Amino acid sequence: MTNMQAKDKIIVALDVPSADAALRVAQQLHGHVGMFKVGSEVFTASGPSVTHSLVTNGEQVFLDLKFHDIPNTVRAAAYQAGMLGASLLTIHASGGSKMIAAAVDGVHAAAKARGAANPTHVLAVTALTSLGPDDLAEVGLKGSPEETVLRLARLAESAGADGVVASPREIAVIRRACGPEFLIVTPGIRPAAGASDDQARTATPESAVRAGADYLVIGRPITAAADPVAAARAIAAEMETALAPLLSRAG
Ligand code: C5P
Repeated sequence: MTNMQAKDKIIVALDVPSADAALRVAQQLHGHVGMFKVGSEVFTASGPSVTHSLVTNGEQVFLDLKFHDIPNTVRAAAYQAGMLGASLLTIHASGGSKMIAAAVDGVHAAAKARGAANPTHVLAVTALTSLGPDDLAEVGLKGSPEETVLRLARLAESAGADGVVASPREIAVIRRACGPEFLIVTPGIRPAAGASDDQARTATPESAVRAGADYLVIGRPITAAADPVAAARAIAAEMETALAPLLSRAG
């Protein structure tokens, strides 16, 4: 991880309604970012073809489908994500340790079947950042959102997940609890000079990297920019500021 360049840590969210639109964005940003996120909107509209095309074009794909089902079903779905060649896949940690372990099983089976050296990494979603304390209590999750997030991150780690999706304010505490190898992928990123859109709690690229994020998920600050490539480069430059000391320490 430490020999990655800043731009490799940028994941661009393809929050668009069609395969054509998604592939246009990816083509424009090819070589300027590390990965593309295929979420439930474009996946529901276009199915696996977007992921398949991206992988065929040599892109890395974060398949953000947030699986939450019985272990047998999640194992089979995770297997299919692995067969598509996704680099990252999300599941809900609240599906429980058996479900998390089944997802890990599924991606390992796929890697074996494809002869792939690296299985898809399984990331757990802890508590959705759209849920406040009252919303969490409503579904039976007592305690502060921070406690819930940390409990579910630890559960995910002990069940074999490779990492979590975490909001900027959760990065540091998860990094301390789960160690340096645990992947932390962080949305809600806004460059120092930019609009926050509908994101309530944001962090700059520099502060998210400094807090310990491995990857930053960025949508509109790049995709809605007048010049998306320039926006991606500016964000990578902001990240460099935080990465340079980390990389020189790592030797
Ligand atoms: O456009 P923007 O940078 O806000 O896009 C962020 C992406 O990260 C979107 O795809 C959004 O669904 C996703 N995301 C998020 N907050 C979370 C989890 C995922 O913004 N807690």
